[in-house]
Amino acid sequence: MSVYKIRLGIPEPFVPTRFAPPSRLPVEERGPEALPSCLAGLTYSVSTRGVKITLPVDNSISLYGFGLQLKSFRQNGKKKTIRPNADPKSDSGDSHAPVPFLVTTAGFGLFVDTARYCDFYCNLSPKPAAKPQNAAERMDMNDMIGGNAGGELLVEIPVARGVDLYCFTGDTVLDVVSQYNLFSGGGCMPPLWGLGNFYRCDMTFRDEQILELAKRFRELDIPCDVIGLEPGWQTHAYSCSYRWDSQRFPNPAETVAELKKDGFHVNLWEHAFTHPTAEKYEEMLPYAGDYLVWNGLVPDFSLEEAGKLFAEMQKPLMDMGVDGFKLDECDGSDFTGGWTFPNCASFPSGMDGEQYHSLFGLLYAKTMEKALGNTRTLSQVRNMGALAASYPFVLYSDLYGHREFLTGLVNAGFAGLLWSPEVRHAENAEDLLRRIQSVIFSPQSLVNAFYLPNHPWVQHDCVEGARELFRLRMSLLPYLYTAFYDYHTAGKPPVRALVCDYQNEKEAHDCSTQWLFGDHLIVAPLIYPEKERDVWLPPGEWYDFFTGEKLKGGTHHVVTDGIPVYVKGGTLLPFAQPVEHLVPDTRFDITLRAYGDCKAAVCRLVEDDGETHSASYRLLEVTTERYETDSFRYRVAGVEQY
Ligand code: GAL
Repeated sequence: MSVYKIRLGIPEPFVPTRFAPPSRLPVEERGPEALPSCLAGLTYSVSTRGVKITLPVDNSISLYGFGLQLKSFRQNGKKKTIRPNADPKSDSGDSHAPVPFLVTTAGFGLFVDTARYCDFYCNLSPKPAAKPQNAAERMDMNDMIGGNAGGELLVEIPVARGVDLYCFTGDTVLDVVSQYNLFSGGGCMPPLWGLGNFYRCDMTFRDEQILELAKRFRELDIPCDVIGLEPGWQTHAYSCSYRWDSQRFPNPAETVAELKKDGFHVNLWEHAFTHPTAEKYEEMLPYAGDYLVWNGLVPDFSLEEAGKLFAEMQKPLMDMGVDGFKLDECDGSDFTGGWTFPNCASFPSGMDGEQYHSLFGLLYAKTMEKALGNTRTLSQVRNMGALAASYPFVLYSDLYGHREFLTGLVNAGFAGLLWSPEVRHAENAEDLLRRIQSVIFSPQSLVNAFYLPNHPWVQHDCVEGARELFRLRMSLLPYLYTAFYDYHTAGKPPVRALVCDYQNEKEAHDCSTQWLFGDHLIVAPLIYPEKERDVWLPPGEWYDFFTGEKLKGGTHHVVTDGIPVYVKGGTLLPFAQPVEHLVPDTRFDITLRAYGDCKAAVCRLVEDDGETHSASYRLLEVTTERYETDSFRYRVAGVEQY
């Protein structure tokens, strides 16, 4: 496994690596004359259009990536434009979090270090030097469309006079992706509470309504760790004043304290466009771009001064105990009214609008994480880009197709991104439960009820079903926490497509409706109104998570109201008694579920303070024979054979 850097021409000064945390892996620099073997045949040229790179790519390999793609999985044959966008309605590449990083099943991945809206053509056919010998004389209808022999990957980077390429090699897609994440600084480590259930309230709510709604969680015995407030908490939200609306929240410090007393963490919605009534507006003027959005300044977060001023506006909120933020609208839209700064905007750092657009969400998240200091968070952001793995911000969207949301989930894992198929309204109870089934097996179990006055499970009369699912999330928290630890230390995405681990199986290459949740579980959800589906399991022994039924690798037809989840044979899975919410000294009561022969199996549990960056981690390894620990976090009661 290696990381290579190849410099082509003269790169631009504003590129993702400039703002990324230091790589956790050594990088070997190579000139274009000494390319690593996986890039054999690469060409590049610079013209008035920018940089053009070509690479011969064997059609039998599969290509994945480009960040959060909601419309397609395997990218062979596609043209993708890496351009941030709030309403990615077609399969053009536009995305909340597009990333110029491509992963292949041929043992390598390619990252193009640019903040330009570059194009990737994933299967072009350059013209031959001479007429092919076997050119067909007669064209029938089948030849009229398609028929491209292909074989060339082409990347076009506008404006630039050069670019750095980074090539990651490894035996499996998972190796390649893990290297990319370590190069990005390693995956983020969320607080334990960040993996609990998260509910965002109706944006018209005032203080009492929020408290009432939060209290209902405890009455209904539905676990919940985080309450999110939507735009209505501010005096002015589009653009943002970052000041509490005193009509709705006459005493915000008390409201936050009350929520915290009941065991909720508090997350506030905002965006970066700074309204004239915001405290630091005047001081921010010299550190903002030359165009307003919604009458607000666009701070240039690449400048320390802008970050500092912005953080000062957030400080009173953090001092109150707010420990998370939803960083909305930083993606901009070309499809819904064009509410963003222009591509030719200029920012005081020297960046133009196009470059800043590609780096905006990332720099915003970085600013907010720094402002939070030693406090860990798992928050939200609507735009991310390259080298984002270390930022504890989960992506979301206003598109609401369940299928698209799941496509986002499998794709995000290829590019160091976290994504939540958040739950909002539903057609009926069945639809709601299907969506909850998916979200609890994602990086963030998020219900975004910003336009729903009631808990949706109360509205649809399915409290019991919802409770059971949210409790299941809590039972899997210790397992998921270990998966995040592996993301943090080894770069392994906690949620990922099956092709990451099983690229030698042909079936895995198009398997976009199932995913790995940690190393040991395969999740295969159903989408309302489906009642049945086919599930593909890789070769080997698998067990139904719920019933323990033993299954062989291959395709299985499943009919169920529940969510199909399978455990790899030989797994010792920690299953906790669900708690209502986390507290700093939560001690999980765990049963080890042994699926199949677990004589040699090891269950790994991570112990730390669960909430600060300065925490020291201790990795516990328990087995069926030796499971008693002195851990303050886990008490292992025993083993249950499945
Ligand atoms: C949208 C966002 C939604 C919600 C809404 C409130 O931009 O995607 O999740 O926060 O704003 O106005």
